[in-house]
Amino acid sequence: MASYDVIIIGSGPGGYVCAIRCAQRGLKTAIVEGRKTLGGTCLNVGCIPSKALLHASHMLHEAEHNFATMGLKGKSPTVDWNQMQHYKNDTISQNTKGVEFLMKKNKIDWLKGWGSIPTAGKVKVGNETHNAKSIVIASGSEPSSLPNIDIDDKVTVSSSGALKLGKIPKKLIVIGAGVIGLELGSVYQRLGSDVQVIEFLDTITPSMDPEVQRNFQRILKKQGIQFTMGAAVQKVDTSKTKAKVTYKLRKNNSEHVVEADVVLVATGRKPYTEGLGLNALGIEMTQRGQIEVDAQWQTNIPGIYAIGDVIEGPMLAHKAEDEGLAAADQIAGHYGHVNYSVIPGVIYTHPEVANVGETEATLKTQNRKYKTGKFNFMGNGRAKANFSGEGFVKILADAETDRILGAHIIGPSAGDLIHEICVAMEFGASAEDLALTCHAHPTYSEAVREAALACGVGPIHS
Ligand code: NAI
Repeated sequence: MASYDVIIIGSGPGGYVCAIRCAQRGLKTAIVEGRKTLGGTCLNVGCIPSKALLHASHMLHEAEHNFATMGLKGKSPTVDWNQMQHYKNDTISQNTKGVEFLMKKNKIDWLKGWGSIPTAGKVKVGNETHNAKSIVIASGSEPSSLPNIDIDDKVTVSSSGALKLGKIPKKLIVIGAGVIGLELGSVYQRLGSDVQVIEFLDTITPSMDPEVQRNFQRILKKQGIQFTMGAAVQKVDTSKTKAKVTYKLRKNNSEHVVEADVVLVATGRKPYTEGLGLNALGIEMTQRGQIEVDAQWQTNIPGIYAIGDVIEGPMLAHKAEDEGLAAADQIAGHYGHVNYSVIPGVIYTHPEVANVGETEATLKTQNRKYKTGKFNFMGNGRAKANFSGEGFVKILADAETDRILGAHIIGPSAGDLIHEICVAMEFGASAEDLALTCHAHPTYSEAVREAALACGVGPIHS
């Protein structure tokens, strides 16, 4: 048995970042992880492996569609799926080993096994019980399925299974047009699968800006992804090699059956709290099964904190990281803060989609007067040279004060471009502040400046 200032349960981006900040603050820290490698869902079966497959399949797309135009002639590459899996696994391994190195460097003990909290101040891992002045629950989330669907992770798969399919499916059905469904749907569409997305709502990517939703869906359709919208999936019947998906169209209640080699269930994720002993401890939960915390990320039991996907808010690695930093500071007697109104969201398809702050829909419900500055990537020289003229930057600013309230980008490197606007929002900047900032030419960021200019006198290149 050992005694620590802090024990963190879970080594995903929330947990390991929290551990490092605790150690930097001089606290004796341990992290509990039951997987064979550190890094949680993000590094092992989420963000990192999916980005490897998105990158590889995008390279294939470039070779097939744009190389010849640039004068790069030769046979188009063929897909060696085993090698692509190897590359993906190697990427995972480099990243998880990197986290292990950071734990050692910061003298953080890795308590190997699944942790539980028998009582406040104690964490049990395997047969050993350790003392901890503070405990941080960072146990993350798991895929949530639908009734009448059994995930076997071979034919009917969650996002984890979709990353390691035995072969590229001829026909892939994706249930749910959210982030996971569209990212992984894009991967397999580019690798040659016939991809059909079945979505309950009439729009893709729930809660995104409506104009982005429409344009994004149009672009994905053009790339070859088929959409069946307003369709509630009822059940999936899985045999050894095929699955039959039954759905009902909401507009007329008609029932349809479609067959596929693989069905990806991407209908959301739920907090993972199994085995922690939260019930017995009397930890208060929300109706949606999340752990309730106060403004300092502390649960109703003093000394027990929770961060990341197990608490309220978007299930995003970077939101968990920010909470990890802030909770660690709080535990160490400093002031920790997360600005929840400036958390960017990114979809890593091609083109990428990124957003921060308010959407036109949320501003309308708030009856807030706003102006819109929009600039199409077609007017950006760099984007045109790189076959990336599709999409736009849209900035929403307060009609009277010009303060930036939100931004929505669909286009090349949107996931990087959004951060300039995040920084501006953190500083309470106006659209004019962005418009007056010199932007290097030729860069994609000039499109951000042009959108800011469009909030005022007007953009130059459109
Ligand atoms: P999601 O909540 O984004 O989307 C699920 C979709 O499934 C919704 O559009 C919903 O209407 C639809 N759906 C639900 N029931 C249905 C039914 N019976 N029939 C048809 N459609 C149905 O969930 P997703 O994509 O699984 O992602 C889970 C979480 O992981 C999200 O919070 C997401 O933000 C996060 N994530 C973020 C990534 C990123 O930041 N790039 C990447 C991957 C995941």
